[in-house]
Formats: sequence, C-alpha cells, structure tokens
Amino acid sequence: MQKVTAIYPGSFDPPTNGHLDLINRGSKIFDELVVAILRNPDKAPLFNVSERVGMLKALTDEYNNVRVDTFDGLTVDYAVRVGASCVLRGIRALSDYEYELQMALMNRKLRPELETVFMMPAEKYSYLSSRLVREVAQLGGTVKGLVPELVEQNLRGKLDPAYKLGEFTEPENHKSEGRKSRARKRKS
Ligand code: PNS
Repeated sequence: MQKVTAIYPGSFDPPTNGHLDLINRGSKIFDELVVAILRNPDKAPLFNVSERVGMLKALTDEYNNVRVDTFDGLTVDYAVRVGASCVLRGIRALSDYEYELQMALMNRKLRPELETVFMMPAEKYSYLSSRLVREVAQLGGTVKGLVPELVEQNLRGKLDPAYKLGEFTEPENHKSEGRKSRARKRKS
C-alpha cells in the first residue's frame, strides 16, 4: 500500500487546542502528517517562525508520524516538494466554509492531483481561532483551556510587562531536543 502523506498548512500564530485536536485526528488517518508553518513576510506575527516551530515541535513530540516544517510560496508546490498527496484543513463553522472552499478549489486548479481533506475539530473548539486568542491575551483576558499550557506561558511572556519581553519557554524535557530526537540518538 502506498504511504499517504498530508500537509497541514497554516499560520499557527499561536498554535491552539483546536490545531492540536486536528493534528491528533489527522495523525490517525494519514501515514505522515507535516505541520507546515507559512513564512509570511507580509504579516507581522506575534510569535516569529522559529518560536512557532519550537512550540509545535514540543507539542507534537508524542506523535511518531507528525513532523513540523516551514514553507513559503504556494502550498501546492510545497506539497509536491514533500511528496504529499493531501492538504488537511480544519472547518469549524459554516463561516469557514466559503474561504476554505475557495482555497481548496484554487489549489485543485493549480494541482488537480492534490486532494484537500477537511476535518472538524471538537465542538468545544468550534469558536476558537489564533486571532481571537491573540486578541483576548493582548487585552488581558484568560486563554486557559484554549491553548496548551506552553503556549499560555509564552503568551504571558510576550504580553505581560512583569515578564521579561521576548522571554520564551520550552518545557524542561524539551529544552534542548525532543523525545523523537532523543529516541533516534538512543537507537544510533
Ligand atoms: O492558518 P491560516 O492563516 O488560515 O492558513 C492559510 C494558508 C497558509 C493555508 C494559506 O494562506 C496558504 O495556503 N498560503 C500559501 C500561499 C498559497 O498557496 N496561496 C494560494 C492558496 S489558494
């Protein structure tokens, strides 16, 4: 049987529990899932690309078939570069549908052989978006339960003047390397 690789492209600024829910679901149906962070020079992100890579790597360390990467240019071209046959995207509510349909059909026009697969995150995350998380956190509201603890800590580090600006946390066991790379080292 042919191995099916999917990419899960997005901004992930910051990663939310909705993203992680989708990664978990995607990891079960694809042989390999590449979480692909868009390097977008037009946007001024809250977390820079390497901060987002660090967080997503730590948060997906438990999955043997999930890896994190970055890309620029067209999503379809990136998919070809990594040998993916599917693009995974989340649909939370009807309001997402129009934009997602437009993107999926444009991607199909560009690369007819690439399929877009939509998955729904758990209902409890259906109102959740990175944009709202940023806004709520920036205005002093709590995002507990909406983002992983690591992201919550890093949001606090970015936004709370009591914290040193730019302070960035990785959990103790992820400080220098992840579980996968430690396992790889043990094997070799
Ligand atoms: O998390 P987001 O911001 O909703 O992700 C949007 C993303 C990165 C999937 C989309 O902007 C994208 O694919 N950008 C890459 C450029 C591209 O391929 N544009 C044409 C899409 S039809």
